Amino acid sequence: MNTPNHVAIIMDGNGRWAEQKGMPREFGHQHGVRSVKKIVEEANKFKVKYLTLFAFSVENWGRPSYEVETLMRLLVETLKDEFEDLINNNIKLNSIGDVKSLPNEVRYELGKIINNTKDNTGMTLTLALSYGGKQEIFKAVKEISEKVKNEIINLDNFDDSIINDHLYTKNLPDVDLLIRTSGEQRISNFLLWQIAYAELYFTETYWPDFSEEDFTDAIIEYQKRERRFGKTSKQL
Ligand code: IPE
Ligand code: IPE
Ligand code: MG
Repeated sequence: MNTPNHVAIIMDGNGRWAEQKGMPREFGHQHGVRSVKKIVEEANKFKVKYLTLFAFSVENWGRPSYEVETLMRLLVETLKDEFEDLINNNIKLNSIGDVKSLPNEVRYELGKIINNTKDNTGMTLTLALSYGGKQEIFKAVKEISEKVKNEIINLDNFDDSIINDHLYTKNLPDVDLLIRTSGEQRISNFLLWQIAYAELYFTETYWPDFSEEDFTDAIIEYQKRERRFGKTSKQL
């Protein structure tokens, strides 16, 4: 069967999941981490080649500081705990976003694991951290403009590969399947350029409840879609 090569997930609904249970939002984030572990394993079993998870947006810096601190602490703990499993499963860790703005400890753990898994040949797991799609495009335009000004890039041979090469995702293919949990049907400044032709899948399930079966459902739904890329059915 046709498995999507690149799956991206907007992991949403941790806070509401917890609030429904009369618990603080942080409780939801803790349980969200469990879903991350399950889904990484499941995607790997499906032989998905690229899995990209939206873990923290540029806009999320605007949340109350104790929530931001909890998320950063959970991130450090998870990176430390999961390191062995990533190695054992031949998974390569990658990150996209404004990594410089992350606390030192997060950057340290992230950098260490990215470096230690760089020769792994299995699934590439990308964490979007302090990520914003518009900011990414802005950064690319700025860098390209500099290079045009300095005659490093010639406008006559300008094509979309030059834009790709200046995005955080330069080593990743376009997204095939984009999943968002929690019932919201929006992109929230996640991958913009990269989802141009992605199949979109929205589910009401909150992220901490998102199970292996839910992931399988999304893949099955993807397999039913006809990706025409502008052509007619007959031409495919
Ligand atoms: C997703 O869950 C996790 C992050 C954005 C970091 P939320 O924290 O957005 O949960 P809701 O959407 O408020 O329920
Ligand atoms: C998007 O979720 C960001 C992540 C999942 C990390 P949000 O909960 O921040 O999105 P909005 O604000 O509801 O659009
Ligand atoms: Mg949310």
